[in-house]
Amino acid sequence: MKNNATNIDRMKIKSHNFAFIYLNVSSQLGFMSKKPQFASKLGLIAATVGSAVGLGNIWRFPAEVQANGGAAFLVLYVVCVFLVGIPVMVTEFSLGRAGQSDAVGAFKNLGAKRAWWSVGAFAILASYFILWFYMVVAGWTFEYLWQSITGGLYAHPDGVEASASLFKSKMQEFIVDGWNPLINTYVVIFINMVILIIGVQKGIERLSNLLMPLLFLILLIFCGVSLTMPDASEGLKFFLKPDISKITPSVAINALGQAFFSLSLGMGILITYSAYFPKKVNLTRTACTVSMLDLVVAILMGLIIFPAVTSFNLEGESLAGATLVFVTLPEVFSRMGGTQIWSTLFFLLLFVAALTSTISIAEVSVAFVRDRFNASRLKACLVVMLPVLAFSTLCSLSQGVLSHYKILGMNLFDFLDTMATNIMLPIVSILMCVYMGWFAPKGLMMKQLSNDNTLSSRTFSVIIFIVRYVAPLLIALVLISGFIK
Ligand code: PHE
Repeated sequence: MKNNATNIDRMKIKSHNFAFIYLNVSSQLGFMSKKPQFASKLGLIAATVGSAVGLGNIWRFPAEVQANGGAAFLVLYVVCVFLVGIPVMVTEFSLGRAGQSDAVGAFKNLGAKRAWWSVGAFAILASYFILWFYMVVAGWTFEYLWQSITGGLYAHPDGVEASASLFKSKMQEFIVDGWNPLINTYVVIFINMVILIIGVQKGIERLSNLLMPLLFLILLIFCGVSLTMPDASEGLKFFLKPDISKITPSVAINALGQAFFSLSLGMGILITYSAYFPKKVNLTRTACTVSMLDLVVAILMGLIIFPAVTSFNLEGESLAGATLVFVTLPEVFSRMGGTQIWSTLFFLLLFVAALTSTISIAEVSVAFVRDRFNASRLKACLVVMLPVLAFSTLCSLSQGVLSHYKILGMNLFDFLDTMATNIMLPIVSILMCVYMGWFAPKGLMMKQLSNDNTLSSRTFSVIIFIVRYVAPLLIALVLISGFIK
């Protein structure tokens, strides 16, 4: 019996080794030369940060801080990013770069059995669901940007207050009004298609190189304005001075959930992108850089919003979720001088953040179709995006005319959001950590972290320890608490 087991183990190792040799040889001989790659380190960081920085940083993070006791949440969030976020990101990177394929193909290339590559398939499905509703929200940001540029939102002759309430009602109508949001969603889908068809290097990388610096610049400008507001210090105190008594298990769980969403973990995005990383890239350092930049954006948003909140005496309802960015902040702009400029800048920021994220989510499916079915990029983009047109339409309409169709008591939009982000994403992350920590070819992760033993660091074994023991348990906690909620 024991002998049998060791034989099977030996066979397993052999087949894993074979997969390894195949990958090494084939990439050296150029069989895989079809595989695109990011052209520069800066470009791959810009693209990955572009995926991570999105609506999660700009609206979800401040809303979570507000709902979870201010600075206490911030402290736990930072701990979660370091303790779990970075190690899980490194794990996805290792899997993607070793597997050199889409989220399913990566597992297959490493010799993984069906049960494991199904995890990749599940990740692709989750990201596809997210794509359907994320396109709709990206469409809203586009409409707000457009309206800000043309000045349509603020033109009430009775002055500032009237403009603010006009804005509110216009926007609330807009989201549920059938045609308008649809047109905007289609515009965003179209832009996505163009970038994706152009390709990884010339499309995704170039766009990110251009837009990410712009995003940081706009954030810094807003930060300057916000920090010089009259009651800025009070807002800063709420955001930065932790009240230890507010650190509770439920706040910790929310912080971990936010870290996952914000770092784009568990959706196959990082597996897909890291397959485009050159061999020499230091995965641990890249994960740290991306996570830090993502964290910086979240913190800058806090520094922008909380001083504004106290200076303009905003509270309660106006700070929850989507209301914060789509209603409250525009109201703030309408009370400031230079309304149109501020509003245009802010929605440009939001649109850029949303666009680079949608592209990364869509690329997961595009890479899948391309690699699995040997399709051209153009064909893969069409196969992926045409159904998105239909499903995003349903998601958009589920906010208005179709809102009476409920799944588990939620409209389609909310159902997909809850299912994908609260349930599918943690499941994928747990299984991926378990695979990489316990079942992947022996030494695979260390090989990836150390770039074939050319780098060394003590953190590598810490990361592997976390991936094996700590991360799966902590993520399981988030998952279970999600079910209970
Ligand atoms: N990380 C992105 C954000 O913070 C969210 C995202 C979700 C990105 C899904 C890609 C896919 O908004």
